[in-house]
Amino acid sequence: MGFTSSLGNLRDYQNVGYIAVPLLITEGVGAISGQIPTELSGFDIPRRLGADWLKANGVSDKAGSATVLRSTSGVSIILVSVGKEFSDYESWRLVGASVMRIAGTEAVNFLLPLDLVSDAKGCAQALVEGSALSVYDYKALEKDFALYVVPLENPTPNPDTVSAIESAIEDALTSTDLVNWAKRLIDMPPRDASPRKLAKAYAKRLEQEDNVSVEVWDEDRVKAERLGGLIGVGRGSNEPVRLVYATYRPMAGENIPHVVLVGKGITFDSGGLSIKSAEGMMTMKADMSGSAIVMATLALCAELGLNIRVTAIAPLSENMTGGSATRPGDVLTIRNGATVEVLNTDAEGRLVLADGLTLATETDASLIIDVATLTGAQRVALGDQIAAYYSTSDEVAQGLEASSRATGELIWRMPLHAPYNASLESEIADIKNIGAGGGGSITAALFLQRFAGQNPWVHFDIASTSRAEGGRGYLSKGATAFGVRTLVHYLSEIASQGSLPSA
Ligand code: BES
Ligand code: MN
Ligand code: ZN
Repeated sequence: MGFTSSLGNLRDYQNVGYIAVPLLITEGVGAISGQIPTELSGFDIPRRLGADWLKANGVSDKAGSATVLRSTSGVSIILVSVGKEFSDYESWRLVGASVMRIAGTEAVNFLLPLDLVSDAKGCAQALVEGSALSVYDYKALEKDFALYVVPLENPTPNPDTVSAIESAIEDALTSTDLVNWAKRLIDMPPRDASPRKLAKAYAKRLEQEDNVSVEVWDEDRVKAERLGGLIGVGRGSNEPVRLVYATYRPMAGENIPHVVLVGKGITFDSGGLSIKSAEGMMTMKADMSGSAIVMATLALCAELGLNIRVTAIAPLSENMTGGSATRPGDVLTIRNGATVEVLNTDAEGRLVLADGLTLATETDASLIIDVATLTGAQRVALGDQIAAYYSTSDEVAQGLEASSRATGELIWRMPLHAPYNASLESEIADIKNIGAGGGGSITAALFLQRFAGQNPWVHFDIASTSRAEGGRGYLSKGATAFGVRTLVHYLSEIASQGSLPSA
């Protein structure tokens, strides 16, 4: 059944394996809220834990550091650090992950003392989010996990706060279900997630949502629509290409913002004839991350009933080396009529995105956002914990950064430095598909900008953050579906404002 979470009860913990108690750590000393019972499962629970004891037990002001009071007969107690302050969402996500790592498939009663949190709803949501994200495991679908949140206040918690926490738990489950759905598709072996199969999986999931419609374009349709970049990339593969075009249009009003998302959907990137190394290919099944991320984002907007129109476009293709593969030197014609000289077939993402972005500009989009595992250069620039983004609008950039801070998905704005366009000039076509002189993530972004129209546009290069090689904090090993939570957070801000910031 996977992960479940709901409100819990302090008295009724016969069926749980653990009770978790949060600790606030200031200057090395631990404090436990007065609302936590002084005795739990036969253990005395002090109000203060000294520096020496904490140190000896591996608990520090690092959120998520924890120790267990192990009971042989009854319920064991997890003492878990929330860090120096009680209201940092990222800390609560780490706490959730840490508690689930200790508890495994045993259920946990998590005691949430309301005197210490200023935003109980936000913290509960982050706690459940971190827990649910961390227990994702491609290999162990059948395992069950449970976290019960027990709000505590003297004499009893305020009913409004309790119901706010209950809806926060539900929101966290809705969001993490879709994030984990995307992670599963990304982690799947590439033969099982071919363009055809992936398109089916997206359509099947999205069609469950109200006010969502999905079109899957087959190869004939893609040709008829003159998507020359997508056709050109797909040529080396026996698997036919697909394009998924999904829309979410809520019942309410016509004059609501329309955001168009475009996601890179390379189901396997061998590099094509500009072939990658064996090592370089090992994670290239995840090169469709952008497509899964935009589809999960759209589905989540629909689940939450956000008052905003969302379109998600995903060109899907393999990048292979078959006898008909595009050669370095070949020229492709993108849907908007621009010709592209393909000098490196491994720079394929920008070719399929050029068609996707062109489609996006043909709508009445108030904002276009693309998401792509686009360049190795992005990892060189920012490392594996920070994604790059580019924006033609300062206001949108500000909004995205605020959302990123709230979700813990770190992003860094990079420059659309126009002079670098010179390196994209081609002798025989409008543009070539590789730059020169370094700054590979920037020249890729400049390439895309040619197809992004005049409306505000944002490009995410998530090559480095799309997978967590070792698993880290609440990120499970493998796919991260990086960006879904930030995009949904930002889109819900736009939806509640009812308008989009201008460029
Ligand atoms: N899918 C890769 C980028 C990538 C690399 C994503 C590592 C995740 C991890 C992309 O298609 C690619 O191969 N880019 C080339 C572009 C170059 C040929 C201009 C790259 O970065 O090497
Ligand atoms: Mn490539
Ligand atoms: Zn690629």
